[in-house]
Amino acid sequence: MTKILGISGSLRQGSFNTMLLNQAAKLAPEGIDFQIGTIKGIPLYDGDLEDSSGLPPAVQKLKTQVMESDGVLLVTPEYNNSMPGVFKNAIDWLTRPASDVTRVWGNRAVAVIGASPGNFGTILSQQAWLPVLRLLGTRPWFGDRLMVVRADSVFNEAGEIADEAVLAHLRKLMAGFSAFVAAGH
Ligand SMILES: Cc1cc2nc3c(=O)[nH]c(=O)nc-3n(C[C@H](O)[C@H](O)[C@H](O)COP(=O)(O)O)c2cc1C
Repeated sequence: MTKILGISGSLRQGSFNTMLLNQAAKLAPEGIDFQIGTIKGIPLYDGDLEDSSGLPPAVQKLKTQVMESDGVLLVTPEYNNSMPGVFKNAIDWLTRPASDVTRVWGNRAVAVIGASPGNFGTILSQQAWLPVLRLLGTRPWFGDRLMVVRADSVFNEAGEIADEAVLAHLRKLMAGFSAFVAAGH
């Protein structure tokens, strides 16, 4: 079974990006074991903390989930035209110790999508992830892009996608990324 791990870069309860992740999980095609990881509980990176106690439990858990996956779907909000610090911080922890980077990220399939209430739908945040994905030696998927714009009018009260075009796009994207992940593992 091909495994994909999805991670939302937002901590808040009513997060559009977490809603998008949950909908992506539902639309994963047959043959895909889609798991959801979380950045909740990950402290700010502190080299002294790492030296004294190693990786915090929430980091170790997510790191193991990434290593056990064949592909990772990053669902990123956009803060000030870049990725949110909390999400970057979590991924930074997942590059520690540096000697593990290849094991965790090397050649791992990664796709980035995102949602924003604004008109550009995280385009600059998704762009900001690219140098990180390159540095970590991932196998980025560039087969499609999904910027969910005006997210406040896309999701209904239940957190489901009420916009047919967005739903169809996400379904197609999940099929494309899943095929890419499956082909490489
Ligand atoms: C500090 C901060 C900066 C933001 N900057 C941007 C931005 O540059 N572009 C954008 O589209 N939205 C921006 N927003 C709005 C977010 O897209 C919005 O809060 C969104 O709901 C966050 O994602 P979430 O719903 O998954 O938590 C910003 C929000 C915050 C709190």
